[in-house]
Amino acid sequence: MIHAFIFFCLCFFHLVGVLVAESNVMKTVPVTVGDSVTLESIIDIQGYDQIEWRFGTMRIARIKEMNGIYSTDYSDDWKFIGRLQLDNHTGSLTIANIGHEHSGVYKQSIGTKDPAAIYNVTVYHHLPIPDISSYCTQNPLSKCSLLCSVLNVSHVTLSWYKGISVLSSISVSDLSISLSLPLEVGYQDNNTYSCVINNPISNQTKHISDLNWLRSDCNLCFDTTEAVIRLVVTALMGVAAVVAIVVLVYDIKSRTRVERTNISIRHR
Ligand SMILES: *[C@@H]1O[C@H](CO)[C@@H](O)[C@H](O)[C@H]1NC(C)=O
Ligand SMILES: *[C@@H]1O[C@H](CO)[C@@H](O)[C@H](O)[C@H]1NC(C)=O
Repeated sequence: MIHAFIFFCLCFFHLVGVLVAESNVMKTVPVTVGDSVTLESIIDIQGYDQIEWRFGTMRIARIKEMNGIYSTDYSDDWKFIGRLQLDNHTGSLTIANIGHEHSGVYKQSIGTKDPAAIYNVTVYHHLPIPDISSYCTQNPLSKCSLLCSVLNVSHVTLSWYKGISVLSSISVSDLSISLSLPLEVGYQDNNTYSCVINNPISNQTKHISDLNWLRSDCNLCFDTTEAVIRLVVTALMGVAAVVAIVVLVYDIKSRTRVERTNISIRHR
């Protein structure tokens, strides 16, 4: 009986724990610099006399109810001046023209109780369009190497695609001055390659089919190979011709000698 009771209690507390944890789950909110974001209230604010929003430990906005009248006030911290809008019907907080300094954890709470809502706001840069350049490599045959690169990025992945399948990728989380990824293309490779940069919010693509100069630049790489191959083939053909002539001359000479010997034998 006592065991059953303990078991019941454990289940009950476990259940309570799950419920509390779920209402406190941190929600990830990715935003691009310059955009606005609204952090939704997850409680009905009617019936509470004070609702507040915190950024880290700093209180940045508050709704107070006094005799049925709701009023809002905001932090005068430089990061938030003129950017916050607290909806005093829903309790949702809007942050306008967001910057990197606004990345962090935001919590909504009722009075001194545990937070009702927790948001992890991460601010991302605008993505640049990748740049593609080409250079020739010899290993040992000529290949045309395409280099896809971007400058000053963080929290991005750069990838080469062949049609819709990923060939290779590279990721950075910290600020990277320059990020690049090479791709080797063979002679007369007419696949539709593209280089894509993406972060959790958006992506930018550069298709190599849009770059006419690239084909002629790559053809220059292959022109060199072709020239080398042609030179080698010509040289080999030359050597073969010389060998053939030598063999032929030797053959004729030795046959003439045999014939002469025969003639001299007959004369005797
Ligand atoms: C917030 O989200 C970012 C990106 O997903 C992550 O790197 C960071 O660790 C998170 N912060 C917290 C406090 O969980
Ligand atoms: C790029 O973003 C668009 C939506 O903006 C999405 O449809 C597409 O799948 C994304 N492409 C890649 C390669 O991530």
